[in-house]
Amino acid sequence: DLEEHLEPRPPVVTIMGHVDHGKTSLLDAIRKTDVVAGEAGGITQHIGAYQITTPSGAKITFIDTPGHAAFTAMRARGAKITDIVVLVVAADDGVMPQTVEAISHAKAAGVPMVVAINKMDKPDANPQRVRTELLQHNIQVESMGGDTLEFEVSALTGQGLDTLLEGLLLQAEVLDLKADPLRNAEGTVIEAKLDRGRGPVATVLVQRGLLEPGDIIVAGAEWGRVRALISDTGEMIEEAGPSYPAQVLGFNGTPDAGDRFAVVESEARAREITEYRARVKRERAAARASV
Ligand code: GTP
Ligand code: NA
Ligand code: MG
Repeated sequence: DLEEHLEPRPPVVTIMGHVDHGKTSLLDAIRKTDVVAGEAGGITQHIGAYQITTPSGAKITFIDTPGHAAFTAMRARGAKITDIVVLVVAADDGVMPQTVEAISHAKAAGVPMVVAINKMDKPDANPQRVRTELLQHNIQVESMGGDTLEFEVSALTGQGLDTLLEGLLLQAEVLDLKADPLRNAEGTVIEAKLDRGRGPVATVLVQRGLLEPGDIIVAGAEWGRVRALISDTGEMIEEAGPSYPAQVLGFNGTPDAGDRFAVVESEARAREITEYRARVKRERAAARASV
């Protein structure tokens, strides 16, 4: 059956901004978790990927980036994973070097941006200064006559978070995001590591289709049979559909962040594809070494 069955899918939203401006805290406040408390030195080292359900019942997938290195690396490999960027700017600190970097990443990727002016609870919060500074980088927010949605928020008090979520859903509606949830799953590896007890663990973003335990999955030069799917809250799940970020156990090797993944029909096919890719990889390395 080659017909496509397109259905609405949740938006995938990447949180970007200067170090310590409150990216992870905002997600913690939205999810009512405390990821920041568990981070060494309060610094995000790993990509976090979570799906939340808004008060209105809609779903949003969030990706929390450690600096922008991971995002940049993925983009360099041609991976397009995000639909919307939330630019977090601390109201007491204003536009900083990594804010400017995030703006240029979002622009280069052609992804719409929404501004969250965070830390509004602070006595020295100055959102007007943030707006003026953004204007100097060609970001004109709505209250300045532009069309970039802006939200004054506080991860500490929860101020403005529901409004931010509704704004993201509004932005998503304009984008008319759809995917076929029925076909074999395809998507992108967001992060992968070798876990001592569990073997290779890959966090993948499903971009279309349905991923299920037992599926034979290929990512870059690695393959495996999905032994278990784990949700963003650590529970075993039976399936992962479009826009869902799931952990996959069962890869025979560790794929790279930014690798595309796809479910294939047989182990023979998986071997054929990955052996070919591994050979290309080896030949390229050999060619480089002989130069
Ligand atoms: P990196 O991942 O290291 O780039 O930082 P981040 O942008 O994820 O910031 P993080 O959430 O780690 O917050 C940095 C600091 O700011 C922490 O001490 C937070 O408690 C504090 N913080 C975050 N949001 C708010 C807020 O809305 N108000 C106040 N007062 N403090 C906040
Ligand atoms: Na931090
Ligand atoms: Mg963080």
